[in-house]
Amino acid sequence: MNRRIIALRVNGRECVLEVDAAEPLVETLRERCQLTGTHQGCDTAQCGACTVLVNGSPIKSCNRLTEQSDGCDVLTIEGLGGEGGELHLIQQAFSRHHALQCGFCTPGFVMRALAMVDEAVEPEPIAVRKALSGNLCRCTGYEGIVQAICEALPVLRRSRAADRPVEGASMDRPDRGRPTSPCVPDTNRVSDMPLWGPIHCRPSSTASAIESLKASPEARPLAGGQSLLPAMRLGLAAPTHLIDLQDIDELRTLRAGADHLLVGAMVPHARVAADRGVMEGWPMLAALAGGIADQQVRSVGTLGGSLANNDPAACWPAGVLASGATVVTTRSRIPADEFFKGIFATALAPDELILGVEFPRPIAGRYLKFEQPASRFALVGVAVVRLPGSVRVALTGLGAGVCRWPEAEARLGERFHRAALAGLTLDPACAYGDLHSPAEYRAHIAAVLLKRAVGELSPG
Ligand SMILES: Cc1cc2nc3c(=O)[nH]c(=O)nc-3n(C[C@H](O)[C@H](O)[C@H](O)COP(=O)(O)OP(=O)(O)OC[C@H]3O[C@@H](n4cnc5c(N)ncnc54)[C@H](O)[C@@H]3O)c2cc1C
Ligand code: FES
Ligand code: FES
Repeated sequence: MNRRIIALRVNGRECVLEVDAAEPLVETLRERCQLTGTHQGCDTAQCGACTVLVNGSPIKSCNRLTEQSDGCDVLTIEGLGGEGGELHLIQQAFSRHHALQCGFCTPGFVMRALAMVDEAVEPEPIAVRKALSGNLCRCTGYEGIVQAICEALPVLRRSRAADRPVEGASMDRPDRGRPTSPCVPDTNRVSDMPLWGPIHCRPSSTASAIESLKASPEARPLAGGQSLLPAMRLGLAAPTHLIDLQDIDELRTLRAGADHLLVGAMVPHARVAADRGVMEGWPMLAALAGGIADQQVRSVGTLGGSLANNDPAACWPAGVLASGATVVTTRSRIPADEFFKGIFATALAPDELILGVEFPRPIAGRYLKFEQPASRFALVGVAVVRLPGSVRVALTGLGAGVCRWPEAEARLGERFHRAALAGLTLDPACAYGDLHSPAEYRAHIAAVLLKRAVGELSPG
């Protein structure tokens, strides 16, 4: 069985720990570091109770391996507050606005709120509610939570701009009031649990990543882990080796040129959503990336992981297919039309890596989805892109994997206007029915979304 020594800086304290290969960060924090303020609610990346900051970004610690955080700075709820035990400014605001009842969700909300200080979240209720989409409060105390965050955000931002610590906040000085001795490794309950998990490798080049993939037939690349780790938890994947791509710099390129946008495979959704060049030249892609899941998932989930996974309800496959993009891999350049091969299937070979995706500059584009309210995956998603000389429409969420809609493309190619879609319907045979909706409903919504998207792009 596989164990490794890793080093973390937790709340400003150096921690050297021996962990199991498949150990989630939440368990390390709770069981090895005795930091039980980080709560474990759903354990399926849905509720946000386990939110902590890793290198300043919010993540759900139930859906991240501790090994992925080797060498990182981790901030938990225990790292806030002052020397004398006084509350952090956000905690004080929560208290003032009665923003907690049972308190189970509270550490996750507080950590999520803290991350908003560095994001473009307006301190007003609609924006704050949207930014909180990855955190659930079963006691439904949202009103007070939102008010508290709206009140605290401007104060925290002003103090950051002035580069001075906020009264009662140790986040800029994580060592304050904390012991600096290393954690004692492995004197706790987790070490008594049966050991399991794949071997974790962190190559620093694509060449050595490919070598590792070739050496072990059951090895799998690991990007953000937002799809692969849940699949492993459910027993749907059991790789012998995880080839963690986070140290390969060339996969992090994001370059918006005059004609093309290049997004590296390891660029997280949140970075695409916030990039000025993408927002200006490829606004559909910025909006699509910003609408995936929640900020905690977007901070780590990547374009490459999403495409290689090719979930039939995922957003990126629709954006890539409608854009007529090219998937650049370690073996070749694959046009989007040849990349997607049905449910969870792609043209990739087992030892082939996605390096990035090249998007041509569009005239206009829009992606709209009717989302599953808990995960925000697309029950139905429609991407329409107008390119010089053609219009492409891609559908996701119908059930059989992303596909184009040739009849809609032909009509819009003649005239790019909502009126050109009059009477257009999608054959329900193209869609699957499930607990969420029957096939007929999905097909109907696809036509509605397409008309809405084209209407927004060509008003009048
Ligand atoms: C709560 C929740 C909500 C979500 N909601 C949405 C949503 O609304 N819309 C949406 O589109 N997605 C959603 N997702 C999925 C999310 O976008 C994931 O980030 C994405 O599907 C996988 O990206 P990853 O970087 O985490 O990949 P990983 O999980 O690390 O990997 C996924 C697969 O890709 C392979 N892989 C990774 N990188 C490469 C590479 N460079 N080359 C070859 N193979 C590679 C891995 O081996 C694995 O098989 C959600 C996920 C969660 C947990
Ligand atoms: S425990 Fe619910 S998201 Fe992690
Ligand atoms: S206060 Fe009870 S779950 Fe939120």
